[in-house]
Amino acid sequence: MTIRYLTGITTTGTPHLGNYVGAIRPSVEASRRADTENFYFLADYHALIKCDEPARIQRSTLEIAACWLAAGLDPQQVFFYRQSDIPEIPELTWLLTCVTGKGVLNRAHAYKAQVDKNSAAGVDADTDVTAGLFMYPVLMAADILMFKAHRIPVGRDQVQHIEMARDMAQSFNHLYGEHLVLPEAAVDESVALLPGLDGRKMSKSYDNVIGLFSPREQVRKQIFSMVTDSRAPGEPKQAEGSALFQVYQAFASADETHKLRQAYADGISWADAKQLLFERIDREIAPMRERYEHLVSHPAELEQILQAGAAKARARATPLMRELREAVGLRNLASSSATGRKDKAKAALPSFKQYREADGRFHFKFVDAQGRLLLQSAGFASPREAGQCIAAMKQSQALPSAAEAALAPGVDVPAVQAALKTLADSEN
Ligand code: TRP
Repeated sequence: MTIRYLTGITTTGTPHLGNYVGAIRPSVEASRRADTENFYFLADYHALIKCDEPARIQRSTLEIAACWLAAGLDPQQVFFYRQSDIPEIPELTWLLTCVTGKGVLNRAHAYKAQVDKNSAAGVDADTDVTAGLFMYPVLMAADILMFKAHRIPVGRDQVQHIEMARDMAQSFNHLYGEHLVLPEAAVDESVALLPGLDGRKMSKSYDNVIGLFSPREQVRKQIFSMVTDSRAPGEPKQAEGSALFQVYQAFASADETHKLRQAYADGISWADAKQLLFERIDREIAPMRERYEHLVSHPAELEQILQAGAAKARARATPLMRELREAVGLRNLASSSATGRKDKAKAALPSFKQYREADGRFHFKFVDAQGRLLLQSAGFASPREAGQCIAAMKQSQALPSAAEAALAPGVDVPAVQAALKTLADSEN
């Protein structure tokens, strides 16, 4: 089965080393894996949530797009597009909005953080909270579900949003049939969380970033302004807890890292350590700089790449959106369903049907294209667990263990497997 990965970057700033190490570099490496499809997009609708400067959004979109390409993303091999070029995304956002509890969104981190800040400041809880901020997880879910993505590489802070997307997909499927794929967060522990100039996480909101493609001299200056302790040259220094060391490690080989650790122990001066760090970073970034600068100064070229990417992405989004509109009842009145007849498109594929029994437990059935029962599950405590069992069956294309699902008598194992395969093929 082809695994689909999807990543977006909000276009509100200039790419910095933290973005590069945490998102851009790993995603470009991942795009070369076999048997995967990879989606990379510029989350400019998300940018509107926190930025009301049009020129900044435009500039950031240009810079982040250029950065991805300069870092080696091949738009021929992946889906590379701008969120706002895909009108199906806001359309799906609305369908998901209607299956999402307001209470769920009340718990979303980004919104809660603002509410907590307001209550600490003693002002009204809704101060500076736009409905956009509140709805952020729904827009993000639409980004993901639109392309039936399986894995979403994110930092820890985004895991909650992926779980919300998963819940929205599950609710939608529960109500309207199996249309959406349940995504999973892929947190890569080996990807470094880069500290910034002041030692806190490198983030534009802390204003402690090192620009990825800032002029070399400026990068050097910024590196030299990194916070260190006051140990003098010749005094042994501690690698653990040193932001400088951590940043170095994110760029260096194991061998180089080992050498710097030794140099710390031997009392290298902070100035020399900073120079080493600057040179190491420059060695990785310098080869990309030319391509970056070319793209940024030829925006029409980039625009063309993005337009082509949007067309490619919409070739996926448009048919799915058509299917979802049909599923929820936004239909051509002359279509067969309006007259009460069975929906042919849906009947043509095997499907999972989730339901709740009088005992309060959650069950599912797996039926073939003709609606004939292939398998019946035992009861689960929550729709989520039932959904996980379905997801496992789809993923493995095999029967769940007996503990997870009671099988209908005389279950036809090859028929179940064949139906799972048909379903998987239709989703690819
Ligand atoms: N919210 C993410 C961020 O600020 C960006 C983003 C938007 C995203 N949509 C996404 C990331 C979908 C992964 C998948 O970092």
